[in-house]
Amino acid sequence: MILITGANGVVGRQVMNLLLQGGTESTAITAITAVTRGPGSAPLPDGVQAVSGDLFRPQWIEAALEGVQALQISPRATGPGLGELLRLAVRQGVRRVVLLSGTTVEYPAGEACFAAQFRHAEDLVSSSGLDWTILRLADFAANALAWAPQIRSGDVVRGAYGRATTSPIHETDIAAVATRALHGSLPPGSIHTLTGPQPLDQMEKVRLIGATLGRALSFQELPPEHIRQGMLAQGLPAEVPDRLLGSLADYAHRPGPTTSTVEDLLGRPARTFADWAHDNAPAFGG
Ligand SMILES: NC(=O)c1ccc[n+]([C@@H]2O[C@H](COP(=O)([O-])OP(=O)(O)OC[C@H]3O[C@@H](n4cnc5c(N)ncnc54)[C@H](OP(=O)(O)O)[C@@H]3O)[C@@H](O)[C@H]2O)c1
Repeated sequence: MILITGANGVVGRQVMNLLLQGGTESTAITAITAVTRGPGSAPLPDGVQAVSGDLFRPQWIEAALEGVQALQISPRATGPGLGELLRLAVRQGVRRVVLLSGTTVEYPAGEACFAAQFRHAEDLVSSSGLDWTILRLADFAANALAWAPQIRSGDVVRGAYGRATTSPIHETDIAAVATRALHGSLPPGSIHTLTGPQPLDQMEKVRLIGATLGRALSFQELPPEHIRQGMLAQGLPAEVPDRLLGSLADYAHRPGPTTSTVEDLLGRPARTFADWAHDNAPAFGG
């Protein structure tokens, strides 16, 4: 049995699909428990058992940890409950844990408090007593879904810091590595920094989405404060623009990292942003 936190997130969904298909391993794992906050979440893949509750206060989950061999941890989903969740996991005989962390632990960008949250989660996992694997993840290609409403309704994407450059990673590559780690096929106590294959700024990302759709899309740069006010007016918590704009400002001066780790671990090239745009074209009206 494998238990997935943040199961409805971009990575959690892909990991469940890959586990069910067998992923990069020979045996499919069909016993999966997905943690969600409750009814109303999108349907889970057939055969996945759901448990519902708030992981920030995780005592309720102890019964669901019985018989679990491996846990996948999203620090956003576990929040301040991670330490207690790991203690419960040890008590229930769980063997290994896979943490979705961020490259900002190693390559600082954005407000220090966000990297510190990942660092704290890494410290908890690596001192938990479980066999652990840490995946430090670059900017998700899926973050570009935030542009979908603008692209569905016009040819211009408005945002801040058009020159901000990262090597965005396709969620299927994250999931392929995470699946190997959950199966115990990566060395215990290892840290892997996963990025996409190619540095791209925001203008290039928009152009690549346009190429997939057969449309000439462009990026129009607006002042960061304008973007911040727009996000707050939409009702988003201040943490969202703080997280986004802080890291974009830094990536406009110094690009995020590019590693070959996905290819080294999987024995095939990492998937490109153009691949991701093709896979997600319907979200942009394609
Ligand atoms: N986006 C990036 O560029 C990036 C880069 C590096 C690292 N990361 C990290 O990668 C991890 C995975 O991200 P992701 O986008 O796949 O999705 P995610 O943020 O891990 O998952 C979101 C899901 O977590 C669940 N969740 C949230 N709060 C919860 C709570 N209190 N109790 C129980 N479940 C809760 C929610 O499920 P329900 O709606 O079903 O309740 C939500 O759908 C995150 O920790 C993120 O910080 C992201």
